[in-house]
This record gives sequence, C-alpha cells and structure tokens, in this order.
Amino acid sequence: MDDEILQLLRESPSAFLSGEEISHRLKVSRTAVWKRINHLRNLGYEVEASTRSGYRLIQSPDLLTPLEIKPILKTNWVGKKIHHFHSLDSTNSKAYQLALNGAEEGEVVIAESQEKGRGRLGRHWFSPPFLNLYLSVILRPKISPHQAPLITLMAAVATADAIQKFSGLFPLIKWPNDILLRDRKVAGLLNEIHSEMDRIHFVILGIGANLNMDEKMFPKEIRAAATSLKIEMGRPILRKVFLQFLLLELERWYTIFLREGSTVLLKAWRDRAHIKGRRVKVTSFGEAIVGTAIDVDSDGALILETTNGKRKRIVAGDVEYNRKVKS
Ligand code: BTN
Repeated sequence: MDDEILQLLRESPSAFLSGEEISHRLKVSRTAVWKRINHLRNLGYEVEASTRSGYRLIQSPDLLTPLEIKPILKTNWVGKKIHHFHSLDSTNSKAYQLALNGAEEGEVVIAESQEKGRGRLGRHWFSPPFLNLYLSVILRPKISPHQAPLITLMAAVATADAIQKFSGLFPLIKWPNDILLRDRKVAGLLNEIHSEMDRIHFVILGIGANLNMDEKMFPKEIRAAATSLKIEMGRPILRKVFLQFLLLELERWYTIFLREGSTVLLKAWRDRAHIKGRRVKVTSFGEAIVGTAIDVDSDGALILETTNGKRKRIVAGDVEYNRKVKS
C-alpha cells in the first residue's frame, strides 16, 4: 500500500490530497491511510499533513526501492523487476537463490546494507546502510562457460563507463575488475556462475560501489586503498541517479557483447586497464607469479610473461602493480 499512496501523492506534486480521497481510491479506512503515512515518514518521506486539506509529498528519501527507481529508469529490460531489501546477508546469495528458482534475465537484487557482503577471493565487502550501492543482476547469456570471464570484463567496463558518465571522471580498471579513481578502489565486482560443462544456466553480476562514504568511515585496513564518488566529486551522491546510469550501461554493454562478440568490449577494457607492459605480481590459487603483463586474451584471461620468458595464462587472481617496464 505504501507504493500506491506514494503514487497518488506524486500524481499531484504540489497539491494536497485529502485523506478521504486516498481512502476512497485505495478502498481502505482513513485510519489505515494515516498509519501508512506515518510509516512512510519513518522511511524518510517528508509528508506535510493538514487537517483541512489532507497530505502533500514534500520530499522523497534517497532509497533504492522500486518506487524510487522505476520512474527514472531508462533501460528496456535490466531492472524491470527489482527485489529491494533493507538488509540481506549478500545480494549475490539472494540473487543466486532467485535464479535457481527461475528468476528471469535482468532481474535485480538491491540491499540498503549487507550483513555478509562478499568480496573476491573470500574477502569481506564492507556494506554499511544507506550510503553505497550493493546490487546483483541476474543474466542468462547463451555463451559457452569458458567465455564467462568476458562477462566480468563487460561488467567492469559498464561500471567504469557509468561512473564516467555520472561524474565526468575517468576510472581505470585493474584486472580483472577493480574500478579505480586516483589509484583507489571505488567499486568492485563479484561475478558468480552456475553452469554445466557446455551451458551457462545463469551468471550473477554482483557490484559494490562506494558512493557516499567519507574517508574516516572506511575500516582502517582499507582506508588508504579505497575511495568513494563523494570523496572524488566533493559532493553527496544521489544513489538512485547513479543506479540509473549503471543499469543503463550494463544493458548497453551486455547487448554489444552478445551482438558483436568480444572485440569492441576488449578494446574498451584495454583503454581503461593500461595493463600491457606492466610489471605485475599475481596471486592465483595461493601461488605468487611475477612477470610482465602481455595482454588479456579473447576469453578475458590475463597473459603474463614470467621472468624466465615463459607465458602463463591466468584466469583468476589478484594483481599488484610494480614498476612499469614498457608501454
Ligand atoms: C571485490 O572487489 O572484492 C568484489 C566486491 C563485490 C561486492 C558486491 S556488493 C553486491 C554484491 N553482493 C555481495 O555479497 N558482493 C557483491
């Protein structure tokens, strides 16, 4: 009913709507309307009430509910169904369950906070309430499982493009999918796949973007390596507007990838990754490998030349940049 009341109040933004009119249109008692208005106020909606004239919506909070997002969404299919939660253990885990139960491509899970936000390689993703963006998108690409890393690169390019279009800043990508501003991580991606040997059932694209964190809010261990859009832009971020950019870029890049294959995508990724010729240390499955990055291959794996001149293909791991040896 919250949704319906808000919709009615929004239909006449500057005028009052009487309690009687609302109760008549929603077929509920005036007491029920009054209770729901109070509930909306508790959620952060500013609703003016006048005994004579009724209710008027003054301001909406920056919540990521379907009601706040749908009116501004510009996509054709991504985010047409949004599952919103105040708190979840992890949006990826929830999206995975929904996908197992048949959720469709493009459905999105959003949480205002996560109790057990998951990062790559078993790490924790710091997910305090109402400040940032924690979302997971369900995709069902008809590609072979060995191409799944390309979906990761696609999501990294889309996230970087969304940040650029929203802020005017130029984010870089650290292989495979850390999004950096001024060398500090502003967003990270955790993509999970459910597949058979030759067929992907679904991919969960998990994206965490630091939007309104101040420096002191980050845990000490990551403070020096992390940033937020608020820090970089010097002003608070309207999360729902950023989400609108992000979902549009995801839909755009996913469509390009499915239609045109990896060439355009890999070019966009390389333009942001500046990885060729970098001296890197990669930790992959517990092993540390030092070498020079040659490129990413057409499946999105990192190709390294090790100190003894051998080439290694790395599909998962963590990269540390050392001195740049050639460009
Ligand atoms: C990383 O860089 O380590 C990846 C971080 C991914 C965090 C996001 S937040 C939304 C989604 N749900 C999760 O539990 N993790 C991802």
